[in-house]
Amino acid sequence: MVKHEWQKRAVVSSALAAALSAILLVANVAAGQTSEECLRCHGLRGLTKPTGESVAIDSAAFMASAHAKIGCTGCHEGDWSYPHVETQKALACGECHQDTYRRYLSGIHGREAQKGNPDVPTCITCHGIHDVVPMAELAKRRKAMETLLLDKCVDCHANKQLMQKYGLPLDRYVTYETSAHGRADRFGSLAVARCATCHGACAILPPEDPESPVNPKNLVKTCGKCHEHPERFAKRRFHVMSAAAQTSAVYTKILRAVIGVIVAFGAVGAVVFAIVAIRQE
Ligand code: HEC
Ligand code: HEC
Ligand code: HEC
Ligand code: HEC
Ligand code: HEC
Ligand code: HEC
Ligand code: HEC
Repeated sequence: MVKHEWQKRAVVSSALAAALSAILLVANVAAGQTSEECLRCHGLRGLTKPTGESVAIDSAAFMASAHAKIGCTGCHEGDWSYPHVETQKALACGECHQDTYRRYLSGIHGREAQKGNPDVPTCITCHGIHDVVPMAELAKRRKAMETLLLDKCVDCHANKQLMQKYGLPLDRYVTYETSAHGRADRFGSLAVARCATCHGACAILPPEDPESPVNPKNLVKTCGKCHEHPERFAKRRFHVMSAAAQTSAVYTKILRAVIGVIVAFGAVGAVVFAIVAIRQE
């Protein structure tokens, strides 16, 4: 059957109308689901599922987060009017941040995570979910910067059992803390290098990898971001204890030993005293 021109037009316009009403419908649903509306319930501290699992969200942290603009339904797609009928999983971070996700997978943490290894960090371990700090804010929010660039790494890389399991050195935090960077950091400098400044962030490569920013070949570039004449660093090992730190570590050990001996003698003395006292009674 041959369609006449007017029939075709009618088909097109009804399709248009359907699409338009679909868009209006979506817009309607979205208009009823702003972050503020979700937070009217989810902002309540102590809101839980019937199973007792928390579904409360820190409103202030969310509104100050990188995702305040896309709102709750930016990641939680679908109809979330209450009661929630069909609860679907949120979009994964990598679905929107595709470049970062690809870089992450090229790094050692990402490669292991993809194999299902639970010992390595995922996006959420480092950035959180509902309180992701925008990069432009990091320099202003000192605590947030410390957490992301240093504390998160230290959580795992100063964990004895975990590092032994992978044959990795346990001294990474101590050697950082006692370095010029670590000391300046404790005195409040924002400009110093932290773990992620040298090693990279979302994608981390072992130092032997020629792409790693801490590969000997790249140190001049990495240190040169902040230092003049970085060549003078290029042959130095970074994670070493300074002589001063080693000395103070030795003194701490001696002090501990002396205290231990005093306590032990004290205990023996008390027992002897008690025995003598009992005998005399
Ligand atoms: C009237 C209060 C209320 C409003 C409004 C509300 N929620 Fe909920 N939500 C809850 C409660 C209570 C739960 C716990 C489970 C349940 O009762 O369904 C929950 C559970 C959830 C869960 C967890 C589901 C799961 O099974 O893990 C998500 C995600 C969620 N809500 C997202 C949203 C989003 C997004 C919005 C806004 C578009 C929203 N909620 C609006 C009360 C509300
Ligand atoms: C950047 C994406 C993103 C945004 C924006 C977002 N969420 Fe989530 N949300 C997630 C992810 C990922 C999970 C983990 C569980 C999953 O995959 O569904 C989650 C989990 C939840 C849960 C389950 C309990 C929990 O804390 O794990 C609730 C409730 C929830 N979100 C509500 C909200 C509300 C309300 C908003 C807006 C104020 C919001 N979410 C904004 C990604 C997001
Ligand atoms: C629906 C898409 C979407 C999802 C899913 C999503 N994001 Fe985002 N993300 C965005 C958008 C849009 C921005 C804002 C970019 C801007 O402001 O320039 C952003 C910003 C960010 C930023 C700050 C970037 C900057 O330069 O300040 C980080 C970090 C981030 N997201 C991490 C995550 C993490 C972690 C997850 C998973 C929990 C996630 N994102 C899930 C869309 C998404
Ligand atoms: C959740 C725990 C966890 C967090 C958080 C974490 N790591 Fe790791 N990291 C690991 C584990 C486990 C390995 C070993 C993986 C393997 O060898 O299969 C590893 C490997 C590495 C390696 C490679 C070592 C080598 O030579 O093979 C470097 C470098 C590294 N991490 C640096 C960092 C930095 C920098 C941060 C913070 C930005 C960080 N890690 C955060 C657990 C973690
Ligand atoms: C100033 C730059 C810099 C900072 C800051 C830094 N590192 Fe390193 N890191 C290096 C260099 C260079 C190497 C490779 C050579 C070496 O071991 O000195 C390295 C090696 C490593 C290795 C690999 C060990 C191996 O041999 O496979 C790990 C893991 C590591 N660092 C973790 C950390 C952690 C965790 C922090 C923060 C507490 C940190 N680093 C801070 C420069 C840095
Ligand atoms: C080991 C901790 C860690 C993991 C895992 C991690 N990130 Fe990051 N991410 C960081 C740090 C630290 C920065 C800040 C780097 C800086 O100061 O330049 C950052 C920066 C970002 C940025 C902004 C700048 C950029 O590089 O685009 C985005 C977006 C981001 N991460 C998303 C993600 C996503 C998505 C994942 C998962 C695929 C992820 N991150 C995994 C620590 C991590
Ligand atoms: C993000 C910027 C930044 C990066 C990157 C950086 N540093 Fe530094 N570094 C500093 C700052 C700031 C100080 C000053 C601390 C102080 O006041 O003593 C410092 C001090 C030092 C010092 C002690 C003072 C000196 O000049 O001798 C050494 C050594 C050092 N850095 C080595 C390195 C090495 C090696 C690298 C590369 C692996 C590196 N730094 C990368 C910021 C950085």
